[in-house]
Amino acid sequence: MAGGLCTQGESTMPTPQEQMQEEFANIFKVEGLAWGDPTIAAARASATPQQMYVDLTAESPVTYVGDGFFRITSMADVVAVTRNHDVVQGSTYLGSDRPAIPLGLDGPIHKQYRHMLDPVFTAKRIEPLGAQVLQLANQLIDGFIAKGECDAYKEWCEPLPSIIFLSIMGLPLDEYENFHRFKNLILGNEDLGGIEPDEKMARTTEAVMWIQRYFNADLDAREQEATPRDDMMSWLLSAEVDGHRLGRTEMLDILGLLMIAGLDTVAASLGCFLSFLASHPDQRQRLVNDPTLTRSAIEELMRYESPVTQGYRIAKADIDLPSGVHVPAGSWMLISWSGANVDPAAFVDPLTVDFDRKPNPHIGFASGFHRCLGSHLARLELSVALNAWHARIPNYRIAEGTELVYSGNPRAPHNLPLVWS
Ligand code: HEM
Repeated sequence: MAGGLCTQGESTMPTPQEQMQEEFANIFKVEGLAWGDPTIAAARASATPQQMYVDLTAESPVTYVGDGFFRITSMADVVAVTRNHDVVQGSTYLGSDRPAIPLGLDGPIHKQYRHMLDPVFTAKRIEPLGAQVLQLANQLIDGFIAKGECDAYKEWCEPLPSIIFLSIMGLPLDEYENFHRFKNLILGNEDLGGIEPDEKMARTTEAVMWIQRYFNADLDAREQEATPRDDMMSWLLSAEVDGHRLGRTEMLDILGLLMIAGLDTVAASLGCFLSFLASHPDQRQRLVNDPTLTRSAIEELMRYESPVTQGYRIAKADIDLPSGVHVPAGSWMLISWSGANVDPAAFVDPLTVDFDRKPNPHIGFASGFHRCLGSHLARLELSVALNAWHARIPNYRIAEGTELVYSGNPRAPHNLPLVWS
């Protein structure tokens, strides 16, 4: 670490910038191992990776890919890893060395933060947001419907969850462009052309700093207000975990995670689902004819498309998996939600998309201790938005000559040109 070398009279403490860079280097190292696995890299780049995951699991449900790294694709093994108390998650808050809250915490302390956050995201608390999602979905559609075409990802899938996030937080909606740009820089979605890695890192760090400063300034302003506002930012200022008020860094660590966890995941899911429905007119027509089917269609598309493809875990102790593989302490594990969701041992005909599938125990929202906090919000946004789209634009298709390119985790077609008449 650059700041770790002591010279006369200088502090041995790394600067925040150095800490951030070291942490990003660690994240990239882990991502690098996974992306360097050519099998996973190929699956991630494919518009239809499902068969590849089935083949991988048939070959070996758990594979040692080198460098202390295991790839796990079977449902039984993924579920066992995510429910094992000797396994930790290890995510840090945007470029710091602090754990993201609650994702980077484990054990009893993780439970305490979930206990605090869960009531804010129950289905009942989230339901009233439906009217706002509907209004926004329609407003965005108003902007392009007359053209008969749009880039659905950029003009609809991306802005919708971001604007809803700002609204839930109680932040000004006209900050959308900034949040959108900085979030994409942090997640590596922004096309920066051929710039040097150092320059790329500097821009990412700048994005993290901007978001930190923004949240901090907003919280500072609210602390001066006599009456708390009825939104998430003000709620955080009075929230308690295990009998103590949250400190400012805890608030920032929660806010950073909610932003990263909530914005791209819903956008990517909308992108994957619209793309599927655009190229499967018979299935789409069923939803147009009967919007009450949309909820179960979303569960099935969540299973089949698995927009959040994988997570990571670290074994604190030696563990033995259901498939019989021994994972030594200190190993990293890539746990593939995408693989588990098409595991023939868990689903009948996993490669068939069946909107009537029952039961549908998919783990598109993860399994185990870190199961998605925002799944009710995500389901509401997805179902209200897709029904709004189908009510206004029932017949749509992917623009001729377009070959969709999927990338990222969450995976998505970041350009999705759709046409309709
Ligand atoms: C379709 C949309 C979404 C999908 C597919 C999704 C998926 C996931 C997955 C797979 C995880 C587990 C990550 C891991 O264990 O490594 C997770 C965790 C999480 N998600 Fe979501 N998510 C979605 C939307 C949201 C939204 C809208 C929010 C905002 C409230 C959110 C907040 C979280 C949080 C806070 C965690 C960490 C939970 C914990 O550590 O206990 N997610 N999500």
